[in-house]
Amino acid sequence: MNKKDIGLYLVIIGLLVFLSSCQMGRSDYMSEEQRKELETAYDSLQSNYKMLLVNYEAETDTLPSELKSLYSQMQKMHSEMDVSHRQMMAGNMGRHMQGDNMMAEGMGMHMQSHMTGEWYSQMMGMHDQMARMHQRMGQQDMARINRHLSEEYGNMRKMIPGLDEPSEVPFNEEGDPALLNGENLYSQNCASCHGGNAEGVSGVFPPLVDSEWVTGDKSVPIRILLHGLQGEIEVQEQEYQGSMPSFKARLSAAEIAAILNHLREESEGDHPNISQEDIIRISNTYSDRATPWNAEELNVQEQGNQ
Ligand code: HEC
Repeated sequence: MNKKDIGLYLVIIGLLVFLSSCQMGRSDYMSEEQRKELETAYDSLQSNYKMLLVNYEAETDTLPSELKSLYSQMQKMHSEMDVSHRQMMAGNMGRHMQGDNMMAEGMGMHMQSHMTGEWYSQMMGMHDQMARMHQRMGQQDMARINRHLSEEYGNMRKMIPGLDEPSEVPFNEEGDPALLNGENLYSQNCASCHGGNAEGVSGVFPPLVDSEWVTGDKSVPIRILLHGLQGEIEVQEQEYQGSMPSFKARLSAAEIAAILNHLREESEGDHPNISQEDIIRISNTYSDRATPWNAEELNVQEQGNQ
């Protein structure tokens, strides 16, 4: 084979790789029909959300402070989810107008879909949690609207193409945890559920200070933050059953490390520092994980994974 032939083969291989990656990106776009279906579902979601807020305003005075702070966190999350959703829909529109010839655009869409799917999951967890709290207080109507919203997010999640293919959601790997303020980051991202001092809310949100889930093997809290946690768990001999949202799409590796180090420092005893590299390593090890962990999995896998 002479040099010219080799060059030709390389060009052909390059072309094949390029075409197949276009194909990959393409599977993340919605057809016109899918787009309409999702838009209809989203309109219904928004009107139920408005109804929830109207009910909430009427009842605010009677609600405990945990629930009130949960509502304010949820409203913040809702508007970020909304931005992500709109970007995804605009990307799909763009495709219909410009044609589907750009690989980079396809990959961008892949990430945007995952990001929006991530938001839907977080909103599901949030509304489930609120439904449970209302239920416990005997507020059937508010519980029902929250449960319904959670189901609507679940259905919309199924309408996004390409979510079952593993993907790196945008995960910022830059930064130095030592330069970040873990306590502030905790307040902004976790306190609404786990309490101002990470003391938890008895029976609803588990404590994070002196929690065996935070202070033990590094990979446990890291995986919880990356992918979420669901189902029955026991913390400090008390049982909880809720859902903890994933934070991979919301925090950088350095931010996750800073928050966990803050919580480990606040806990009794000495616990090795978590570095940004720890987070990246574990994120890479479990890169195709798309669903929250459960207690059993975290314990079983722990043995070989220090
Ligand atoms: C929307 C409410 C919510 C937010 C916000 C939230 N969590 Fe959680 N978290 C939960 C729930 C509910 C559980 C229990 C899950 C279960 O029962 O399986 C939990 C469990 C945990 C656990 C394991 C149990 C324990 O007590 O140690 C860790 C660790 C944790 N969360 C850390 C965090 C950190 C750090 C943040 C902020 C970056 C955060 N969570 C934000 C709701 C939340």
